[in-house]
This record gives sequence, C-alpha cells and structure tokens, in this order.
Amino acid sequence: MSSRFSNVKLGPPIEVFALQKAYVDDNNENKVNLSIGAYRTSEGQPWVLPVVKKVEKALAADDLQNHEYLPVLGLEAFSQAATCMLLGADSPVIAQGRAIGIQTISGTGALRVAAEFLSRILHYDTFYYSKPTWENHRLLFINGGFKHAREYTYWDHIKRTINIERMIENLENAPENAVIILHACAHNPTGCDPTPEQWNMIADIIEKKRLFPLFDCAYQGFASGDLDKDAAAVRMFAARGLEFLCAQSFAKNFGLYNERVGNLVLVMNNTKDIVQIKSQLTLIVRGMYSNPPNHGARIVSTVLRNPDLYEEWKDHIGTMSSRIRDMRIGLQQRLQRLGTPGTWDHITQQIGMFSYTGLTERQVEHLLDQYHIYMLHSGRINMCGLNEKNLDYVAKAIHETVLLFPQKDKRCNC
Ligand code: LMR
Repeated sequence: MSSRFSNVKLGPPIEVFALQKAYVDDNNENKVNLSIGAYRTSEGQPWVLPVVKKVEKALAADDLQNHEYLPVLGLEAFSQAATCMLLGADSPVIAQGRAIGIQTISGTGALRVAAEFLSRILHYDTFYYSKPTWENHRLLFINGGFKHAREYTYWDHIKRTINIERMIENLENAPENAVIILHACAHNPTGCDPTPEQWNMIADIIEKKRLFPLFDCAYQGFASGDLDKDAAAVRMFAARGLEFLCAQSFAKNFGLYNERVGNLVLVMNNTKDIVQIKSQLTLIVRGMYSNPPNHGARIVSTVLRNPDLYEEWKDHIGTMSSRIRDMRIGLQQRLQRLGTPGTWDHITQQIGMFSYTGLTERQVEHLLDQYHIYMLHSGRINMCGLNEKNLDYVAKAIHETVLLFPQKDKRCNC
C-alpha cells in the first residue's frame, strides 16, 4: 500500500548515542564505555551529586512546590544566579544591567534559541565553528536558520596543539557579523584551550573584523575544578566591552544530564534594548517549546543561592575534576611503561572530560571489535569512563592495537 511516508530517507545515526546503545547492548564482561560525555565514579557508575540529592529531598518535602507552568523565559532567580556564576559576582556588566539570562533546555537549547535569535532577529547568516568541534553545533545552527556554515582551523594534529595562526587567518577572512562559536573552556573534543594570550588574539580579531562571538560553556568548574578560572575567557570578553552570547549547560557540572538545565546569557553594550530583546526571545521560546521545565533549574538555583550548598557543590566539582586528572595520569603512565609507540604526554596536557587521543579510525575500530572499548571514531575518549579496574585493560588494548596498526606518521598518532 502506498504511504505518504514512503519517501522518507534514512538519516545518519547520532554517533555518540548509537555508541551508547551499542555499549548497553553488548554482553561482553570486559566492555568499557569511553564514548558519551557523562561522569562516572571510580566504580564506573553515574553520580548523583550528594548536594543535588539533598535539595531534591527538600523539594519533595516542600508543600509549597507545585507543577504550575514556569514563565516562558524560565525561573528568573535561576537565570540571575547562573549569569552571576558565569560573569562573576562582582561583574561590572551585571552591575550596569548589561547582562540578561534566560532559562533554556540545557546548553543545546540555549544554542538553538541563540541561533534562531541571531538569524531571524539580527539577520546574521554565516557561522563559524572550530574544526573539530562538538558534532551538534552545525546541526543546531542550520536548524536555527543560518545559511552558511564555515569551519575555522583549530587543531594542529601533528603538534597536537591549537593552530592559532591558521585560526586567526580564518577569522581574518570571515565576513562582518559572522557568528564565531567558541568553547569557553575544556574544548570538546580536543581538551585543549587557548592560552590567555591566544584568547586576547582571538578577541582582537573578533573586535577588528566586527564578528559576533558566541560561547558554548558546558564545562564551567568541571575543567579545572575552579569556576572562576574556567570562566576567564568569557569574563575577558566582557571586560573588553565586547557584546556576545553564551550558552551555559549544567549537565556536567551538576550531573543533571537528563534534566536539561541551561541558561542563555546575552551581554550587550547598553540596557535600552532589553525589553525588545526579551520580547523576541519570548516569541522564539513560545514557538519552540513554550516554556522550560522546573525541576533541574530549581535545584541549581537553590544551590547557587545558598552559600553552604554552594560550597558543598564546589567540593563535588573538585572531586570530579581531580578524578579525571588521576585517570589522565594513570593512562599516560601505563602507555609509557608499556612502551607504546607514539607520544602520550597530550593525555595529561589536555583538560576537561575528554582526551583527543590521536588514535586512528582503524585503531578505534579494532579497539571496539577486539576489546569492546567504545569511543568516537575521531579517537576522542571520555576520561571518566576509566577507573582503577579497567585502566590496565584499556592501556594494554591501546598498546596492542597501536602495534598492530601503526601510525603512518611517527610524530603523531592521528
Ligand atoms: C558529548 O559530547 O559526548 C556530550 O556532550 C553528549 C552529547 O550530547 O553529545
């Protein structure tokens, strides 16, 4: 029988979720999941942060809580606290009323709302994303109405550092008003952030060429363990008087992955347009999902606004970021001890959740087929998937795989 749906083409799978499913379905007892970016304890388990559990219990017992709609732009107390966390409590931009935040459906929702605002309201049509970047940036901006997707060089795969010269050159050639997506900290997937000097160079070129910066801030506090340090680039842009947007996610730093807690921050030069801007954001959200969910944002808001809970949460961030650092050291030392061909210092030099290992696609395939170790085809691994129980297994598997399928370029295993 003919059907209206028979011409629908099969779309490509979303790699990270396809791998996650394949991992769950895999019955091999040695399997290791280094794919999706989610924190795991040293037992390999998801972690509900104790402070989150505490607030959830209090909310459940609070008879004043209900399930009424939130306003279209979400919980204002949450957005204010989140904006403050990003820009700093003593931020002149906040004091001058030049920053607003709206609650969104995690960082992804913030990016999608931002894209639609920039394309439909400001009429920007070109965006640049780093090569490589988080695989969703492109889709979000195309779906948000942008016409021209461009890459800027970010990674030097031989030196395994940022190729700042090429990046600046690419930005130099970008048209005015091109939106430049920047990772605020813990660049996904490379784990390599610009130095303060390089950030200044990036800000210079953005200012000179009248480009529009948009930060994706998914790892504040999670990268270095220090909330202020991880926000330094964003704050530097604010201090220089640049206007920008920033998408904040609370998935990783609060472990609230499925609660979709996010905030879109707009930093602008004056306050006179705020009412109009909010009215347009309201229409965008209303036409997309009407209003955001309450639960996760209520938790984050409660923690950020209570000094004791805030300190408790900062301890949790420290726990997570230091465990990741330990795993970096653990893997690098094992590979060095085994004498695995190639250099592995980058594993400890990179920061945040991921390591861009430089393993080739062939090696990644072999690690999956032979050892049931799951990672992105780019060689990106989630460091949190490692623990004392599987480190030896993973290091040995990488060692054997690199011996079996050597890199062509001896300087580099990418
Ligand atoms: C990741 O990069 O693995 C995470 O941010 C999950 C996702 O949505 O891609």
